Amino acid sequence: MIFGACYYPEHWDRGEWKHHAELMREAGFNTVRTGDFAWGCIEKEEGVFEFSYLDDAIEVLAAEGIRVILCTPTAAPPKWLVNQYDILQRDRYGRRKNWGARREACANSAAYRERSVIIAEEMAKHYAHNENVIAWQIDNEFGCHDSTHCYCENCRKAFSKWLERKYGTIERLNQTWGTVFWSLQYESFEDVILPVYNSCEPENAHGWSHNPSLDLEYRRFASDSWAEYQKLQIDAVRKYTDKPVTHNFMGHFADIDYYNLAKDLDFVAWDNYPDNQWGSSEYEYVSMAHEIMRGVKNRNFIVAEQQSGPCGWDMFGAAPEPGQLRLWTHQALAHGGEGMIYFRFKPLHYGMEQYWYGVLDHDGIPRRRYYEIQKTGQELEKLEPYIAGAKNHYDALIVRSYDNIWAHQIKQHARKFNYQELLYSYYRANADLNINTAVSMGNYADYKVVYMPAYNVVHPEEMEKITEYVRNGGTLVTTFRSGTRDTFNNLFTTTLPCAFAELAGIEVEEFAALRKPVAVDGIVSSKAEIWCDMIKPVTAKVLSIYSDGYFRNKAAVTVNIYGKGRVYYIGCDLEREALGRLVCHISERCGIKMTEMPSGVEVVRRNNCMILMNHNDCEVRVGLKGKSLISNQHFNGKLEAYGVEWILAE
Ligand code: GAL
Repeated sequence: MIFGACYYPEHWDRGEWKHHAELMREAGFNTVRTGDFAWGCIEKEEGVFEFSYLDDAIEVLAAEGIRVILCTPTAAPPKWLVNQYDILQRDRYGRRKNWGARREACANSAAYRERSVIIAEEMAKHYAHNENVIAWQIDNEFGCHDSTHCYCENCRKAFSKWLERKYGTIERLNQTWGTVFWSLQYESFEDVILPVYNSCEPENAHGWSHNPSLDLEYRRFASDSWAEYQKLQIDAVRKYTDKPVTHNFMGHFADIDYYNLAKDLDFVAWDNYPDNQWGSSEYEYVSMAHEIMRGVKNRNFIVAEQQSGPCGWDMFGAAPEPGQLRLWTHQALAHGGEGMIYFRFKPLHYGMEQYWYGVLDHDGIPRRRYYEIQKTGQELEKLEPYIAGAKNHYDALIVRSYDNIWAHQIKQHARKFNYQELLYSYYRANADLNINTAVSMGNYADYKVVYMPAYNVVHPEEMEKITEYVRNGGTLVTTFRSGTRDTFNNLFTTTLPCAFAELAGIEVEEFAALRKPVAVDGIVSSKAEIWCDMIKPVTAKVLSIYSDGYFRNKAAVTVNIYGKGRVYYIGCDLEREALGRLVCHISERCGIKMTEMPSGVEVVRRNNCMILMNHNDCEVRVGLKGKSLISNQHFNGKLEAYGVEWILAE
């Protein structure tokens, strides 16, 4: 199993490398991830490549049994490149994103593409036969620092070509986008604008001031641009080597369509920072992120950067408490991780990330975090048969599509509505019942229940897929705003919920974005605070009604038998507890096994074992017993603060 740290030899005196490598070996590390951002060291001037420092460092590491995942360094273009070529992004206000940090280059800049391919190719050629290089990573965190969307002239031209390929004629585009509204007709593809700042946009608002079709197509185009850019580098690397190629993804991040970005890669890697300057994540949010990452290719992944110390850029997030680094490691592996690389081995005293602590501190002396990671590595050796190639058994699926995320960003629906939060609330409700829940586009037939909350942009093939699934006995759970938009981001004109009306067996007579809460009664009692659909059942049965105001007695939650399956339609938002009860009710009907646990305790089921994780900072007792795969002793149900157990159930 890959177990290691991110390590940047160019940051240290050569004389220190050996000591660092020895400490890594003693920690149980076998892998270093490196090279990202080293463009300025490898190609100091255009076309002159210098690998000797990296060659030497790889040798020093190899002498301690440590091999390397080599990253192409293209996230940090050197100064000569920006001096010579205009590769810099423009924001929606036309401002240039100046050099001085990283990720400022545009995916559609011909010069950036060309120089990126050249350096990727030179690196691949140089290291093709180096047996200490075990895998490749292309670039680093595409889209990080809000860099997916560029509004430069190169992008405008590339967008018009992208549109021409898709629409064929400008008449078709005008017709489809409804440019007749506000005289927005285009004469040619060359004429089409990017969704830049305009008269309707309050400063600093993000999006929504344009034709919704233009906006959605632009987001698809920008996402495709990075996949295309990545593919150029993948091809360059693959010319010389058949070692596996990856990229480090960012969990919940959604500006790039990760299904598309991953399709040319051998495996997914991702960067996990549960507690940094920008916030602390609930444990279910982190587990969902792991599942999103597993769902991208429906395959296990590795963690390319795992938080290993207190971190931030100008402020620190919460410091990981004793046990948390171990817990986060196990959580990743429980959700399909097969490799663990901590960020970073040693923090750096200069540069932007002075406060990004790692396995060590600035003085390089191993302390609590180092020893905790070392111990974790030792127990992972024992668990390896349960990790490599392991398959979790999933009962539920949350369908997560980028088109839907983007369409909801463009038209938010209600002030307090946030689509990704809605998805998370459904994931969390399942996770709190300890139901293994996948997050993907998925093969629906593999799951007992499929959740499609507020699934508003509907592709005809997806509609066929979900209809077939329900007809054959599957359970679909859907909500307000589902089925309302076509793939061009235009509204359907049939009766709401349009594409889902027949499946759900209902008509939505009226809806309201709420000014004040509305009570809901029935199978769940709750309060809607964001949205209410007033439902007229056609073939569906009513499970809950509204009991306030002019909504009184109108259906709020329904269930419909369709073919051999059933469809739940939830017309409003529900409070956390009520949603939990509803998900529990639905899961029981689907024959899903749930495991009751004290709050904050997570259970993941694997065919041959169960992984228990206590996210509380205090000891808890759980009802499950069995043989501990970590201690080889009987597990008596006691989980220490941040404790973990892998057990063979009795
Ligand atoms: C990640 C990035 C790393 C490092 C880290 C800490 O997002 O990939 O290169 O910058 O954050 O900021």
